[in-house]
Amino acid sequence: MRFSQRTNWNTEESELARAHRMRVQAGLPIADLTASNPTRCGFAYDEGLLGALANTIALDYDPQPRGSLRGREAVCRYYADQGVLVEPERVVLTTSTSEAYSFLFRLLFDPGGELLVPQPGYPLFDFLAALEDVRLKNAPLVYDHGWQIDPEGFRRAITPQTRAIVLVHPNNPTGHFTKPWEAEALGALCREFDLSLIVDEVFLDYRFLGAETATSFTAGLEGVPVFVVSGLSKIAGLPQMKAAWLVATGPEAEKALDRLEVIADTFLSVNAPVQCALPAWLEGRKEIQGQIQERVAANLEELDRQLGALPIVSRLEVEGGWYALLRIPALETDERTVKELLESGVWVHPGYFFGMADSGWLVVSLLGPGREFSCGVAALVAYLGTHQGGNGSAKLPQGSL
Ligand SMILES: Cc1ncc(COP(=O)(O)O)c(C=O)c1O
Repeated sequence: MRFSQRTNWNTEESELARAHRMRVQAGLPIADLTASNPTRCGFAYDEGLLGALANTIALDYDPQPRGSLRGREAVCRYYADQGVLVEPERVVLTTSTSEAYSFLFRLLFDPGGELLVPQPGYPLFDFLAALEDVRLKNAPLVYDHGWQIDPEGFRRAITPQTRAIVLVHPNNPTGHFTKPWEAEALGALCREFDLSLIVDEVFLDYRFLGAETATSFTAGLEGVPVFVVSGLSKIAGLPQMKAAWLVATGPEAEKALDRLEVIADTFLSVNAPVQCALPAWLEGRKEIQGQIQERVAANLEELDRQLGALPIVSRLEVEGGWYALLRIPALETDERTVKELLESGVWVHPGYFFGMADSGWLVVSLLGPGREFSCGVAALVAYLGTHQGGNGSAKLPQGSL
């Protein structure tokens, strides 16, 4: 068989993945500091959630390329709750934020077109872009008492092939909310180089106390085509429901929507019962959001409490999202550190998964159950302390989870 070049991936299991699989198979304890699936983190979901799928309206199949009006109106109410007016005509329902990206890439890019992506950032972009023949160009975020974009770095990365900039608000994994001055700077670049702005707001509702209030980009940026993507996987903690959307704003949004409608009509991928259930799931989001917010805040506090004993490690400032970034001494590669941590019973992401350097960075998920999180951080602190000449025990005690 002759395969396409775009799927010419190295699908061999990585050394880290193999080590993790073998530890799981051996039945050894692992404190998971990479948790990203809220349905497996011990939150109390309303058992009636699936009842919303039994609406008999869905027995009548009325295919609407942009999604049902009821579903799109529910998305508009979500933005109205944040004081932003969005018209249902501007909304297209999709099965996931990833699918929304794929629709936008088909809308905006010809093969070889370039997308600017802030680094560090969400690793799935590599695959989402490659599958649509989009080339990624990284634009660095800088850290100086908090993260910020570097408008000049973005400018330098722009070429005649650049079609769009993507912005994750707040960013995964840095937890950085785009500030008004940054939005203005990116807007100016988009106007100057005729680019669209794709804004990913899946973590918009997860803001730590003290972080500046951040608004949705559906309010638009003067003269810039802005496409906002979001969905239930984070907003309502329901990744399994496969319900998401995009909102098109700015100049020529109607033309863009006409084309998006054809793309969506080709697949009609969002199933009818899910579209019927979307209003109830979105309305119920506060219940699960409250639990998640409480969890990530408590875990962040616990992380800081334990790191207090280890001044060689610093936790970077974070404003929102579900992750925290740790700066560790760059004495060996993070791959090796992560492997040794796994042998101590803690599973954590190396920063290079998210585009950081190969050495000196770990990404910790704050989503997992408190006890497991606390044990994992204890083992991490003990390991890093030991490797700095301390005498902490780096092993996760058997049965501690
Ligand atoms: C920044 C960001 N965007 C999009 C997604 C994917 O969302 P969905 O499940 O709706 O495809 C994720 C998932 O982790 C994410 O972190």
